[in-house]
Amino acid sequence: NTIGIIFDLDGVIVDTAKYHFLAWKRLADDLGFEFTEAHNELLKGVSRVRSLEILLEIGKVQLSEAEKQSILISKNEHYLTYITKMGADEILPGVEAFLDTLDALGIQYVLGSASKNAPLILKQVGLFSRFKGIVDGNSVSKAKPDPEVFLIGAQKLKLPPKQCVVFEDAIAGIEAAKRANMISVGIGDKETLSEADYIFNSFTEIGSNFLQELINRTEK
Ligand code: BG6
Ligand code: MG
Repeated sequence: NTIGIIFDLDGVIVDTAKYHFLAWKRLADDLGFEFTEAHNELLKGVSRVRSLEILLEIGKVQLSEAEKQSILISKNEHYLTYITKMGADEILPGVEAFLDTLDALGIQYVLGSASKNAPLILKQVGLFSRFKGIVDGNSVSKAKPDPEVFLIGAQKLKLPPKQCVVFEDAIAGIEAAKRANMISVGIGDKETLSEADYIFNSFTEIGSNFLQELINRTEK
């Protein structure tokens, strides 16, 4: 096939942003500053370590390396209490039908996520074995908006970047896709994701001819 798909996980396949938010917010509460949903937008797509740096900038808090390490551990412990309760009912609307369509057309897809918890989450919701490859926070050294995660994804798809289509919900992820020279599809808010080549509110909005349009575009 002429195209391959790279899916972000958090906010595209499952709505884990709400659990990341709750886990970070609890830390901000403990540290004594306010952390809002708008702040959380800046953490989307960004690695765990970078997220903490941004969080501390928001709160104007300075911590030692040892304190940061212990906060990162407790953030993830708290996050794990949410994600270990997840099931297939938390797969976002239209995702499974979209994967079925890709399977039927023989279009391959991999995961390109910043999360070290990505394999666990995919197993929780029963989608792990459907992906041809998994690129996650354990296999990359540079966080989005660096394109590394998607470039490794392209290698797994055995396709040149311009034939890869990235589905992303985060500003940092769209930027990473652009820097990787890939086609970007934003899933979510039109204003937030205005840099994307295509934007849909959710997978249920994607029409039946969209994949053909992508194929035509890459064949040009
Ligand atoms: C991204 C999320 O997918 O993964 C970020 O959008 C998160 O919010 C990052 O910080 C790292 O996730 P984890 O599970 O390794 O802490
Ligand atoms: Mg995301």
